[in-house]
Amino acid sequence: MDNRNGVRVVSGREEDSCPGTDRNGLSRRQALGALASAAAAAGIAGAPAAAAPKRPVAPAGPAAKKAFIDDLIARMTVDEKVGQLRLISIGPEMPHAKLVEEVAAGRIAGSFNTVVRRDNRPLQEAAVKRSRLKIPLFFAYDVVHGHRTTFPIPLGLAASFDMTVIERMARVSAIEACNDSVDMTFAPMVDISHDPRWGRTSEGFGEDPYLVSECARASVRGFQGAAPDKPDTIMAAVKHFALYGAVEGGRDYNTVDMSPLRMHQVYLPPYKAAIDAGAGGVMVALNSVNGIPATSNVWLLQDLLRKQWGFKGVTVSDHGAITELTRHGVARDNREAAKLAIKAGIDLSMADQVYLAELPGLIASGEIKMAEIDARVREVLGAKYDMGLFADPFLRMGKQEDDPADVRAEDRLHREPARAIARETIVLLENRNQTLPLKKQGTIALVGPLAESGLDILGSWSAQGVPEQAVTVRAGIEKAIEGKARLVTARGANVLDDKKVVDYLNFLNWDKPEVVQDPRPIETMIEEAVAVAREADVVIAVVGELRGMSHESSSRVSIDMPGSQRRLLQALKETGKPLVVVLMNGRPLAVGWEKDNADALLETWYTGTEGGNAIADVLFGDHNPSAKLPISFPRSVGQIPTYYNALRIGRPYTPGKPGNYTSQYFEEEQGPLYPFGFGLSFSRFSLKDLKLSATRLKRGQTLIAEATLTNEGSYDGANVVQLYIADPYASIARPVKELKGFQKLTLKPGESRVVRFEIGEEQLKFINADLRQVVENGRFDVQLGLDSHDVLVESFELV
Ligand code: NOJ
Repeated sequence: MDNRNGVRVVSGREEDSCPGTDRNGLSRRQALGALASAAAAAGIAGAPAAAAPKRPVAPAGPAAKKAFIDDLIARMTVDEKVGQLRLISIGPEMPHAKLVEEVAAGRIAGSFNTVVRRDNRPLQEAAVKRSRLKIPLFFAYDVVHGHRTTFPIPLGLAASFDMTVIERMARVSAIEACNDSVDMTFAPMVDISHDPRWGRTSEGFGEDPYLVSECARASVRGFQGAAPDKPDTIMAAVKHFALYGAVEGGRDYNTVDMSPLRMHQVYLPPYKAAIDAGAGGVMVALNSVNGIPATSNVWLLQDLLRKQWGFKGVTVSDHGAITELTRHGVARDNREAAKLAIKAGIDLSMADQVYLAELPGLIASGEIKMAEIDARVREVLGAKYDMGLFADPFLRMGKQEDDPADVRAEDRLHREPARAIARETIVLLENRNQTLPLKKQGTIALVGPLAESGLDILGSWSAQGVPEQAVTVRAGIEKAIEGKARLVTARGANVLDDKKVVDYLNFLNWDKPEVVQDPRPIETMIEEAVAVAREADVVIAVVGELRGMSHESSSRVSIDMPGSQRRLLQALKETGKPLVVVLMNGRPLAVGWEKDNADALLETWYTGTEGGNAIADVLFGDHNPSAKLPISFPRSVGQIPTYYNALRIGRPYTPGKPGNYTSQYFEEEQGPLYPFGFGLSFSRFSLKDLKLSATRLKRGQTLIAEATLTNEGSYDGANVVQLYIADPYASIARPVKELKGFQKLTLKPGESRVVRFEIGEEQLKFINADLRQVVENGRFDVQLGLDSHDVLVESFELV
């Protein structure tokens, strides 16, 4: 989904290309996604007469790379240099045929949203056969949580607390993307989010800097493999640099104003982690950072990113962000916007014509020096070099005769990893009277508007995921109980009742609306569901949000259960039948009623292509859930933010101590509904006997914290032991606790295992008031728990 100039577009699947048409291979709504992208700007002066060099082939090694790029830059015209700074999306204003000609003219560095090999091949041929310098094109795409196979949304992936899961997701996605000739992904998205009203919470890995940083590293490892120049790896462009997750009020594209301390301590580490893991690209955020848009922010892009962090890769503006500098009010016009972006260090301009239209004039007038342009071009050529494209422009395209006949063929999917990964992301929030796992017998009622949706289960940014290839919850349950139990179904409600909201979500999707409403009155639907429930031994209700509600440009004013779904649940509860509530949503919801009334409550997020099978695996006990919440669940919207690692304050709310003048909301219970790190298992686990190997720690040394995890239940199961550290006295107010490690252990019934964490200065350091990384002597509290709230505590002194 993208949003430009107030135009809301849902990006999604690309159909096979349409021979005989403009062959751009885009569905109507995708084509609209590129509506706002830069039109081709004709009229750039032609290249000076020069013998066309033969196609460059990249030699190996950093010195060779530099020499190769120097040589190329020395032979480039101004127009060719400007062309190498443009990343263009296919769309109505840039249909395939026109794109081919623009590429041949040397006016485009890379394209995004062209995903089918047979569409990309003519583009690459135009680049390497017809353009004067034969510089290859690269192809980028939003491969965020899958490519043809859709995996769970990143918020769900983070809930696995298992980095092998995330790395595997990214590896498989990269392999599939490579098979479609994609060279670069705009991922991972590592924006920390404290405000679930923000729809893009779904795309990120949650609220915690340590967990999100781990997820960032694992994603880069998976996408890029050993190096991004292999035929089965893609370059990762980490986004959105920086602080996009902190948009004020959770309203997308809003401003970000944040103290430097918080920035360095909480929000910046995940981007740094991705870069340290070798991410070749950085996508720059649409928001401003303390008054200066990221796109023109010299401090952010030069001082921090390049100088302090040593980033050597390519920077990409977000969609149309350069021209938006005029709307931010920091550029008088597009000319000034282009100048600011180049001076700040934006290498590639995504989907606008500002660089094309303005840079030649700015260079001619001397306002931008050739050396400044060369520096930007160098990064783009360097990225192409690193993606292996100079060595072989068809590296990820192969030979034409090998192009898949059917791009959506079933055998192009990776169902096994999709199911295995999805199972690891499902969080069990409640399980009264061991309602789960269900027996595969009797009559089961399945109700709820999301039970049969192959589209919603894919979640946002589902790339080439095909809803018809997704296993719905209904299909998963039917398969699981086939021949053993009877399934009765009813829709029960729509997700939404408000036509205006439905229209918003369907805006610009008039060819095939995403949201299709059941026209019957709610009373009729509920009556039908209740009748079905009465027939059954147990009721499973699949409720939550449509995928479009947890997406770009989908900020909500409330985090309540949408529409009449709560009413449906209440009516089902009144039947007295055991009620299993399966949540499908991309942000924390205020599910207080469900917490108190459901017999079992499962948070499934959006689980992807194999989602229905994975959910059935958990419902019927073929998999014991072990995921944990990567973000706190507030009780109500008014409580936001509820992140667990808040700074210490002078008047904290003290449980059990009534009275005024402490930090609290007086009409509601304090604290989150579910804390960060929370998640149950079918087995009961205990964590006991926290011991520290020392009570005094000398600088430079480490100590061991250990405790015993026991599976006291009767199922094999895994649990995540979490290490938190609190620094109760320091030169600045420090968080009440911070996650510093976690380990996921699988235990047999009755089995115990000692879990050990090593603690040294690495776990104790923080950013002080001078923005220096320091470790200060004094007491530290070590907390070990199975969530962030219920912990064992022991202390030591750093001396
Ligand atoms: C805009 C989004 O903010 C960004 O995340 C995405 O990568 C680009 N559009 C390209 O689709």
